[in-house]
Amino acid sequence: MCGIIGYIGMQNASPILVDGLRKLEYRGYDSAGIAVKNGDISIHKKIGKVADLESILPKKIEGTCGIAHTRWATHGGVTDANAHPHASEDGKVAIIHNGIIENASQIRKHLQSEGVKFSSETDSEVLVHLIHRNLEGGSAPLTAVRKALRRIRGTWGLCVLFADHEAIICARNGSPLVVGIGEGESYIASDPHALTPYTQRVIFLEDGDLAELTPGDIRTSRMDGSAADSTVTTIEETWAEAELGDFPHFMLKEIHEQPEALRHCITGRTLGSEGTGKLGGLGLSPRELQRISHVRLIGCGTALHACQVGRLSIETLARVPALAHVASEFRYNDPVIDSNALYFAVSQSGETADTLAAVKEIQLKGGRVRGVINVVGSSIARQCGSGAYIHSGPEQAVASTKAFTNMVAALSLFAIQIGRARTLSRAQGRNLIKSLNAVPNKIEEYLANPGPIAEAVALLSKAKSVLFLGRGVSAPVAREGALKLMEVAYIPCLGYPAGEMKHGPIALLEEGSPVVVIAPNDSHRNKTISSIHECRARGAKIILIHEEGDSIAEDGDISIPVPSTDSMFTPLLTVLPLQLIAYHTALALDCDVDRPRNLAKSVTVE
Ligand code: G6P
Repeated sequence: MCGIIGYIGMQNASPILVDGLRKLEYRGYDSAGIAVKNGDISIHKKIGKVADLESILPKKIEGTCGIAHTRWATHGGVTDANAHPHASEDGKVAIIHNGIIENASQIRKHLQSEGVKFSSETDSEVLVHLIHRNLEGGSAPLTAVRKALRRIRGTWGLCVLFADHEAIICARNGSPLVVGIGEGESYIASDPHALTPYTQRVIFLEDGDLAELTPGDIRTSRMDGSAADSTVTTIEETWAEAELGDFPHFMLKEIHEQPEALRHCITGRTLGSEGTGKLGGLGLSPRELQRISHVRLIGCGTALHACQVGRLSIETLARVPALAHVASEFRYNDPVIDSNALYFAVSQSGETADTLAAVKEIQLKGGRVRGVINVVGSSIARQCGSGAYIHSGPEQAVASTKAFTNMVAALSLFAIQIGRARTLSRAQGRNLIKSLNAVPNKIEEYLANPGPIAEAVALLSKAKSVLFLGRGVSAPVAREGALKLMEVAYIPCLGYPAGEMKHGPIALLEEGSPVVVIAPNDSHRNKTISSIHECRARGAKIILIHEEGDSIAEDGDISIPVPSTDSMFTPLLTVLPLQLIAYHTALALDCDVDRPRNLAKSVTVE
């Protein structure tokens, strides 16, 4: 989603800004722009990719201070005019803004009635006019920004550039910003990974913070003018420059990184002899694990599907009631929070606005919430304070793959850990740990020989819609398969619990309709066979994901075997063909597989 990068120092700003924009590309966006202070402020912006912006940039833009932005449209269509930065009428102030201004239309009307001319349809533009007016009224830059923000209701990650002042003013409220500290230079970004090539020393701004960046100095303050916490953090885990290597796309690369990523997630977190998981970062003793009344898992998109698998593992292995919640619903439904319950916020980016808001709601009501997060130092990770990093490494493709498997693995480790503190025997625990440790090799084995994916793609790429079915832990896998195909190939897809199919989706079936069925050899297998027969009786063609050696293969028109494993861990294997199917179908339909239309990697608005 929207990305921010800013620089002030001695170097030429524009190459640093463009490089930063490239690092933010993976978040998903539809336009990009740059503003550099050089006497006046020169602004260039363009819809499309960062490369499209580069194509219109002059060879050299003089200036050692600038801000740049990737926009993911919320208010106002995808146009050059709506792209950020936005400037005041006289061009003396420019802003970039992430977030949503809820009272923008009232402020816009008011400003227009006083003669201000707007050049975009965005909510953000009101900010630049408010700041400009405050400057005209005699306020210093920082005060002008602070006063403008007092009139705003909503969220912001804001950077302001001034033609007449050697400073960038930044402010955060609900939209992440991190300040980078260099030698005689300062940086600002929405994502720490855009900064790590330049500096490891950062200050994470908190909601309500402002920062004034000058070449050799950073001053932070609060909205009321009081001092802000300006603790300097050293980012230890730098994300390697994401290179495609031998892969044509990040999605395929990340699918193939799953064995190694999974090893990173589980290594050192199992006690084979005790038959238990060891997620030390949760900070929960066996006694505390015993006392947990129930578990709630909260996430969005793929993370939600991982929560749905996790909740079943927890209930099955620990006999503790567990539920998965859509973060956006959870936060707004005035949830009843039980201080004896344990809440998990599950997120790859650690920046998803709805999940972050849910965490704050839980904490406000006295609940305990732990993060299950990929990005180290992200907003949700910091807000939770403790949890388990899933260690997938950078995930660049918008469609999440390796984060799903690692979220499922981390939650499985927790399920074993809490299970062992309660009802799970040592022997059961040992078998589970042994099976989990064997999964990375099995993923490798499958990816080396993925089965008849091409046949499935030939069927799916012609489909009007696709139904995905599964039961038990395979129901969320079905949803994940549907989400993946819909995200990257734009085919309407439904993911349904197989037993629920007859209550609606069956109406969609006609001669040749593809139905993808996930049917590992678990206690649900025979019931799923009945669902397959119900589909076939209506002319559906079955793409069946099953465990190797299972005679159920005969029930599929196209049958794709995956290595067999403990029934608790089948999602780690059955999801693989679904990821490959989505990827190859998107390619067959000529879709932009890594940057699907309208989607964002990191959804920082509600
Ligand atoms: C977006 C992404 C999805 C992701 C979801 C949740 O919709 O496109 O791939 O699953 O956000 O993101 P999170 O970073 O919280 O896991």
